[in-house]
Amino acid sequence: MSKPTVSVPNKHKEILLAIGAYAQKLGTRAWLVGGAVRDFYLKKETLDIDITFEGNVEPLANLCLRNWGGTKRKFTQFGTYRVELENGLKLDLVRARKESYPHPAALPVVEPSVIKDDLFRRDFTVNAWAISLWPQDFAASFDPFGAQRDIDGGWVRILHDKSFLDDPTRLFRALRFAGRFGWKLAPETEALFKEAVAQQYPLLLTRERVSREFIKILEEKNPQPVFVLLSQYGLLDFVYPSLQWVPVMSKAHTMPQRLALLVCSLEGSGQEFLKSLRLPKELTQEIQVILDVYEMRRSPLTVLTDFQKTVLKWLFPQLPPQALEPCVIRGNDLKNQGFTGSRISAALEYCCKLQWEGKIHTAQDALARAESLPKK
Ligand code: CTP
Repeated sequence: MSKPTVSVPNKHKEILLAIGAYAQKLGTRAWLVGGAVRDFYLKKETLDIDITFEGNVEPLANLCLRNWGGTKRKFTQFGTYRVELENGLKLDLVRARKESYPHPAALPVVEPSVIKDDLFRRDFTVNAWAISLWPQDFAASFDPFGAQRDIDGGWVRILHDKSFLDDPTRLFRALRFAGRFGWKLAPETEALFKEAVAQQYPLLLTRERVSREFIKILEEKNPQPVFVLLSQYGLLDFVYPSLQWVPVMSKAHTMPQRLALLVCSLEGSGQEFLKSLRLPKELTQEIQVILDVYEMRRSPLTVLTDFQKTVLKWLFPQLPPQALEPCVIRGNDLKNQGFTGSRISAALEYCCKLQWEGKIHTAQDALARAESLPKK
């Protein structure tokens, strides 16, 4: 253990010290670990905090709720608690563990352990850094694998040769961190990375896990450098063939906006790509509507959300003002005018198209144009 090199932001100090003091009373070592240590060292904001205990976690989860209010969830598989405090802080409280992988890309089998093993099971040196939370040596650094050295040098480095095989999501994670922080893959890590891609390790992952990693990339503050790396190292094809960053994505700020633009960029296969991601139904449907309008290039029959309109305006910056409003007439209006059967849908489609092109503005315009269609 060495002197503190990471300074804990003042706003988190009180809570972390109290957790450390309680753990000390129980005789349980408590450590701040993972991305939060990295981010505190880099002076970056984070509300996601991982704390590892060398002992039972439950009393500490209860302490958090008693002291600061919030909700807790238990993940039985790893005995982890996720506590969301009322002040917005998210704490993952975990018992230090050792992991073994029964077969490549499987979820690990875990057993309780001490902090060094817990750091060794992690993805990269830069995320395998712990600082003590016990009051007597608060913030003292435990950095057995060179986290500080690699953060200073800008290296993404795995901790052992089988790391990518154990968990191929690390291939995506490596490029996400490299792109986010402007880091490079350390030479030996890069060699193993290339081998892992050549051996198609990402195919060992379920589609859900690939999708989750890809969505995390789209949630980055600036995903473009990550895309450049994904493409350079041949990982994008494992997400979906011919996927690439499209310049219009620079306008977007959120994951759904970026995803919608990507889906539309895949001429003809956007729908298949969207479905393959197995996202929540509501999001899939919202993006599907954008794709429909994009492909048909005609005004919608329903009211579009602000999200849908924003994305479509980026895709079609020159649209007439009413193009994204619901079509000025409905099927019933046409029925009332004596339209029947397939003439109704043909006339509706025609009017949606005319409205998209700015050629009609009112229901009267639309009806007049519909009447001019051939009777059969
Ligand atoms: N971790 C790992 N292998 C994975 C996923 C996570 O070793 N496949 C470890 C890393 O130590 C990581 C920590 O679990 O720091 C927390 O995971 P996560 O929240 O996904 O990573 P962060 O580093 O916090 O990433 P971000 O900054 O994007 O939240």
